[in-house]
Amino acid sequence: MQLIVRHLSVYHNGVAVLTNVSTYFETGEITMVIGPNGSGKSTLLKALAGLVKYEGEIILPDGYEAVDELTGYVFQNPETQIIGSTVFEDVIFGLENIGLAPTEIEKRANYVLELLELSNLRDSDPYYLSGGQKQRLAIASILALEPEFLLLDEVTAMLDKSGKREVLEAIVRLKNLNKGIVVATHELDLFSQIADRCIYIRDGRIVFDGQPADGIEMYKREMGAEFLYR
Ligand SMILES: Nc1ncnc2c1ncn2[C@@H]1O[C@H](COP(=O)(O)OP(=O)(O)O)[C@@H](O)[C@H]1O
Ligand SMILES: [Mg+2]
Repeated sequence: MQLIVRHLSVYHNGVAVLTNVSTYFETGEITMVIGPNGSGKSTLLKALAGLVKYEGEIILPDGYEAVDELTGYVFQNPETQIIGSTVFEDVIFGLENIGLAPTEIEKRANYVLELLELSNLRDSDPYYLSGGQKQRLAIASILALEPEFLLLDEVTAMLDKSGKREVLEAIVRLKNLNKGIVVATHELDLFSQIADRCIYIRDGRIVFDGQPADGIEMYKREMGAEFLYR
């Protein structure tokens, strides 16, 4: 499945944050979105999730517009998203909200907990999970809603090394299930290991779209010393 973005612009208080962005995203593909702070990465992901108002089109090839039903957005800080008092309750919260039958809820929850390797923590209080476990729970709860595309906003930024590794492996499993993954990140070397494609955004415009190694090289060159001391 392809998601097509045409002439996308987003304004905050009259100031353009994304300007005339045209691109596409594909299921079964991991796209890393890079760029300096404030360049518009999160805004792009939020537009894809229908979380911000935009001009232009985000559509399927047949012109279908309700793309936000097909996407799920995951925040940098998993605490923002976790609300259940157990891991299981957190996953089922969104499913109850959309009014699914109890058997379907149970089935989906078991499936995503297995997939994100959280089954053994089903009755645990999310508060006591490690960073990597919390982020995997945030992803599981969104995945239970069965989006085709997962929009992951700096999801490894707050994690230690093993947490980053856990989340990276989970992302690869999701790609192998043919989910489309769009991940905004500053962790260039980490995500270049798994990304199929790289989009570099500067000042609200796409300035590169291609192989991760090439995009990262261009970004590092442009950022120069500023990048090294970040
Ligand atoms: N809700 C908002 N209200 C006003 N300005 C915003 C809002 N969200 C983001 N911005 C501005 O939009 C620009 C792009 O932000 P963002 O998409 O978060 O960039 P990035 O994720 O690349 O760091 C920044 O200048 C930011 O200050
Ligand atoms: Mg951001």
